[in-house]
Amino acid sequence: MERVTAKDLLEKDEPIVMVAAYDAPTAEILDDVADVVLVGDSIGDVRLGYEDTLPVTVEQSLSHTAAVVRGSESAMVVGDMPFASFGVSVEETAENAARYLKEAGAGAVKLETPVDGGVSVETVRRLTELGVPVMGHVGLTPQQVRREGYRVLGRDDDEADAVVRRARELEDAGVFSVVLEAVTEEVGASVTEAVDVPTIGIGAGREVDGQVLVIDDLIGMSENPPSFVKEYADVRGEIRDAVEEYADDVRSGGFPADEHVFGGGGDG
Ligand code: KIV
Ligand code: NA
Repeated sequence: MERVTAKDLLEKDEPIVMVAAYDAPTAEILDDVADVVLVGDSIGDVRLGYEDTLPVTVEQSLSHTAAVVRGSESAMVVGDMPFASFGVSVEETAENAARYLKEAGAGAVKLETPVDGGVSVETVRRLTELGVPVMGHVGLTPQQVRREGYRVLGRDDDEADAVVRRARELEDAGVFSVVLEAVTEEVGASVTEAVDVPTIGIGAGREVDGQVLVIDDLIGMSENPPSFVKEYADVRGEIRDAVEEYADDVRSGGFPADEHVFGGGGDG
């Protein structure tokens, strides 16, 4: 089966569905439902127990990106480049970005592209010139958390304008899509209006070309999901209930039962 390409996303006339996920079996479940699976650096705080995304390494990110590629056939897989794996120099950025395509088999990379730093437009341009499909990411950029904290962007006009300007520059540098995180609905609409490439929002309102949520948040696995999340299941509760029942069974002798036991006789 052919995978979703940047061109497919551009030509899509219904909203783009993106999910951030980190492993092969989850990718297999999502594959023909989501258009894009993002292997987010959110794995740091969502799955690896870190305070934020900053400790995530390229090796960890590549390993999980490769797992998601193995678990999927049709979705576009986007590898999310971790903090300081890009932007230090154009050479290092290009070498790291190429590994996502060459080693992990990803279809694209995503780089956080805050208005005032992280990565230059020239760097993004160099990647797109090389043929690395790049997804931008503006608004709240969690890799800046130790400088800025987490907050909604674009509540004042100057900041709103800066986000729109940045998205335009990125489009000019060749990104095929832009993620908009935690911005007002007005900023989401302005950016979507200002650029031709699809915008994919997370906490960015309704006036965008697609939505992305972290799988753990949408299935009710996260303990304190952000307010923009809708939880579609209570997997955390399901896991807890299952393990409690198992523990009760083990302690009471209810498990294993006859059907879980290997017999020594001819029919087992
Ligand atoms: O790391 C991540 O999961 C992300 C999305 C939430 C956009 O960057
Ligand atoms: Na991310």
